[in-house]
Amino acid sequence: MSAILLLGTLAAMTALHWRLTLLTLIAFPLSLLLTRKTRNHSQRLDRDFSSILEAGQSYLTEFFPGMRTIRAFNAERHEEARWQDWLVRHRSIRAKAMAFHEMIRIVLPETVNYVAAGLVFGYGALEIVQGRLTIGSLVAFAAYLPRAYAVLQSLLGTQVNLQEARVNAEKVDALFALSREPSGGRVLPPSGTSRVRSAAGATSYAGAALAFNNVSFDYGRGDFGARDLTFRVEPGEFVGIVGPSGAGKSTIIDLIMGFYAPQSGSIALDGIDLQELSLTSLRDQIGLVSQDLFFWNDSIRRNINYPRAEDDSGAISEAARAAQIDEFITSLPLEYRTVIGERGLTLSGGERQRLAIARALRKHPKLLLLDEATSALDALTELKVRDAFEKARAGRTAVVVAHRLSTILNADRILVIDQGRIVEIGSRDELLTRRGLFHDLYKAQSFDLPAIAL
Ligand SMILES: Nc1ncnc2c1ncn2[C@@H]1O[C@H](COP(=O)(O)OP(=O)(O)OP(=O)(O)O)[C@@H](O)[C@H]1O
Ligand SMILES: [Mg+2]
Repeated sequence: MSAILLLGTLAAMTALHWRLTLLTLIAFPLSLLLTRKTRNHSQRLDRDFSSILEAGQSYLTEFFPGMRTIRAFNAERHEEARWQDWLVRHRSIRAKAMAFHEMIRIVLPETVNYVAAGLVFGYGALEIVQGRLTIGSLVAFAAYLPRAYAVLQSLLGTQVNLQEARVNAEKVDALFALSREPSGGRVLPPSGTSRVRSAAGATSYAGAALAFNNVSFDYGRGDFGARDLTFRVEPGEFVGIVGPSGAGKSTIIDLIMGFYAPQSGSIALDGIDLQELSLTSLRDQIGLVSQDLFFWNDSIRRNINYPRAEDDSGAISEAARAAQIDEFITSLPLEYRTVIGERGLTLSGGERQRLAIARALRKHPKLLLLDEATSALDALTELKVRDAFEKARAGRTAVVVAHRLSTILNADRILVIDQGRIVEIGSRDELLTRRGLFHDLYKAQSFDLPAIAL
């Protein structure tokens, strides 16, 4: 349709003055040439824009499941900086892409039109002076020009719809603001500095003391979470927590981490009430290996080092050795640079646990919290994880939620939890002679436990 219109217009123009018509047509190859020249740059901008969108999307899909890990590692600022960095890059790429597309869509054809019109009028004026064209013919010719160029523009028109691809980045900004926890409060000396050197020269750590005083907590839907819990964990002590599924074991871990605050009673770390303690300082003391492990879709090195930017490979492999995962990592072709895939899914259960222990140890925590994963491990893997843990807890306080009793057989004391309450407390042997819940759990799993006279 527009081609027919164009032909008609050109025929009328040629009838008036064929040389001027030829000049008018200069705009066509000129536009084509410029469009072609700018195409590569335009495609590059489009690619940059879609890859930054992809980066933002994959970050967000990791961010929400990773929230606990982010908090446990005091990495809120680190993550916020990462997001801000993304926002800045996103804005700048978007601005560049939009400006360029607008230029191609509007500025470029307009300029070509003006240049061509200028040429037509300049040449037309010359023709009039030389008596080969009348003013009336030039005016009539000029009347056809806009129509010819309008057709041209619609033929070459570049429609860029950037708006559709735009994500509402400001909304995510608001989410960061919402999920911010209260800051402030008392600060304990950073746990990494609390190393003490023994006479023999070996490095050890002073463990933290933990105290629960009549702690009660419910999730607000009528369920119990924790009911009137009172217990102490002395510096350097190893305390195991066992109980049926849903008993409230992970809830205790979450309360220690400050993910939830008790509705009544108090929890103290090194004698300071958690209410008074800064959450950052609290989490700085604790190495958490949670029941539901989360890793970033990034290299092993960065996952262990999380969220530090500086790359201290000595400290990273020291943590990996202590967690007995160093040998496995160095057996991989890319070693510490191996990318482990979203949520660490390219690793086995035992490897994931040992990697999480390494990550926790990289903090040099005074208190190690381990919430054992429920997924089954084979006997050999289980032994490896247990060895890793035994080594990791040396010189620290350790609180371990166990589903496999073998994990906590060496514990100094064991808390048995049922329906949010402590129902038994004592050493393994004390609990076995009581013949209570622990005894039942023990009997149920006794096939893979050492024979102990009951
Ligand atoms: N975020 C939550 N919101 C509401 N209820 C919860 C929440 N987390 C846990 N609960 C409930 O609190 C109770 C204790 O849960 P918790 O996760 O502490 O159990 P658990 O002893 O760790 O169990 P498991 O051995 O299966 O890990 C359960 O009844 C559970 O359904
Ligand atoms: Mg649990």
